[in-house]
Amino acid sequence: MVKISPSILACDFTRLGQEVADMRAAGVEMVHVDVMDGHFVPNISIGLPVVSSLRKKTDLPLDVHLMISDPLTYAPQFCDAGADIVVFHLESESDPQAVLDAIRKKGKKAGVSIKPQTPAEAVFPYLSQLDMVLVMTVEPGFGGQKFMSDMCPKIAAVRAECSRLGISMDIEVDGGIDNNTISQAANAGANVFVAGSALFGKPDYLSAVRALRENASRA
Ligand code: DX5
Ligand code: ZN
Repeated sequence: MVKISPSILACDFTRLGQEVADMRAAGVEMVHVDVMDGHFVPNISIGLPVVSSLRKKTDLPLDVHLMISDPLTYAPQFCDAGADIVVFHLESESDPQAVLDAIRKKGKKAGVSIKPQTPAEAVFPYLSQLDMVLVMTVEPGFGGQKFMSDMCPKIAAVRAECSRLGISMDIEVDGGIDNNTISQAANAGANVFVAGSALFGKPDYLSAVRALRENASRA
């Protein structure tokens, strides 16, 4: 199933509640929240108070993408703040199994993300425990970057391994997704699409979401 997850990194933060309400009205399946610590990535974005505030304003699932060095300490706190799924990076400083256990203990969904230089095989040992795999299609840290189409074989490799294991996984792609690149990612096997600059800032969210969805579904 195609799911669209708008990244609020590209929204007007002075109107966050309304921006998310407008995306909900446009039919998105979830909201992508990019958390950056200025250490794992060279940028600082938003954190726990924003997730808590959003939780009170929307019933959309909150898809929290932790681009932080220490997810073991903070993942449980994001669960408590209202995240529905917490996605952390395999390249972080925490032990992945310990982070997965901590998220499960909170009763939340868990995902792992891999940066462009990390091979597909890195996620294979965890697949049976995951709700989602996030394959980054840009170097994490900033919105508005160009889609790396050479990540498509990696998406396909994750999809193939999930199929081999009989797991129907959500495979999310993040970075540079627009009406063209979404087809490439969908063809490779992705079904959850993060989009920041391709959605927020557009005059008509309904038609922007619909166009992305159509291009993904046609693939
Ligand atoms: C990048 C973030 C992305 C980013 C996507 O580090 O993880 O979620 O907001 O933005 P666009 O869609 O503009 O590439
Ligand atoms: Zn993200």
